[in-house]
Amino acid sequence: MEYNKEKLQLFFLKVEGQHEKINKSVKDIYDACAKPEEKEVVLELIYTLDKYVTEHFKDEEFLAEITGFPKLDFLKKDHEYFRAVYYRLRYHYNYYDENAKDYKYVCMFAIHLAKTLEEWLKFHLKTLDKELVKYLQEKIFED
Ligand SMILES: [Fe+2]
Ligand SMILES: [Fe+2]
Repeated sequence: MEYNKEKLQLFFLKVEGQHEKINKSVKDIYDACAKPEEKEVVLELIYTLDKYVTEHFKDEEFLAEITGFPKLDFLKKDHEYFRAVYYRLRYHYNYYDENAKDYKYVCMFAIHLAKTLEEWLKFHLKTLDKELVKYLQEKIFED
């Protein structure tokens, strides 16, 4: 498939930047949840992680697909697995209370989400994401 290498390189850097943000947000959630007055900060961090399961997965899959990454199906399945876990968690905690017009269980949800993501990432980053990054570096940065 034809693609513009320069555009893909920028896109790749965006995806790598997202990885850093995710890892930082996971760490920040633990710190913020230690302080009850940090509810707004925690909500912001939840939003960042929420972006991970939507935007980041989509971006990675786009790059993998357009460059012909051989393990695209595995990558999609692994993302799909985490996405399903994430939606279950979000549904379970239902952390916005419509009646009270306020957030509840914010830290319970945030810590559960951060820990789940942290454990999943330990494997995902070391396997499929790592292979994808290596593949993309060769495919769109070399020659
Ligand atoms: Fe991934
Ligand atoms: Fe990733």
